[in-house]
Amino acid sequence: MAGSLRSLISEDQLQARIRELGLQIRADHPNETLTLIAVLKGSFMFLADLARAIPGDVRIEFLGVASYHGGTRSSGAVQITQDLRGSIEGHACVVVEDIIDTGLTMDYLMRMLEVRGPRSLKIATLLDKPSNREIEVRVDYVGYAIPDEFVVGYGLDLGELYRNLPYVAVYSP
Ligand code: IMP
Ligand code: MG
Repeated sequence: MAGSLRSLISEDQLQARIRELGLQIRADHPNETLTLIAVLKGSFMFLADLARAIPGDVRIEFLGVASYHGGTRSSGAVQITQDLRGSIEGHACVVVEDIIDTGLTMDYLMRMLEVRGPRSLKIATLLDKPSNREIEVRVDYVGYAIPDEFVVGYGLDLGELYRNLPYVAVYSP
């Protein structure tokens, strides 16, 4: 795909921050079995590293969501492409997301998950673009806050490409 990539967050920076987040999440939930709810596809790489950074018992669930349809602007319409397999009733849950931009996707997901009766429901996002928020979202764990630029890599895509980059890059058309 034409366009240029400029590294924004290196592989080492990502890994160091994720180790901190893993310990912080465990410290906030001592002795609890944590259910990590990965929002697919973008969070798959963050999930894999975050899960390994959390000591103790962890369960993994996947939630498939499509909100972009290939472009670089959020459509606001959230489509569930794959629901959770198991019940989260009574579970201590952390939703694992790649990036929060307008907040529309996460707001939708939180309302959808809250009615299922989790014991607790927190949000961990690798990246946050707070300047672009259209709806307030209570984010518990943020890897890095970034400016309002379109980023790819480490799970994040443009038209399904660049997810395999081990770092986060700004994409310029
Ligand atoms: P929101 O609904 O606007 O908060 O957007 C959330 C979703 O849009 C994220 O889960 C990403 O999948 C996607 N997204 C937002 N910003 C970017 C970006 O800079 N690069 C790649 N995907 C993005
Ligand atoms: Mg996403």
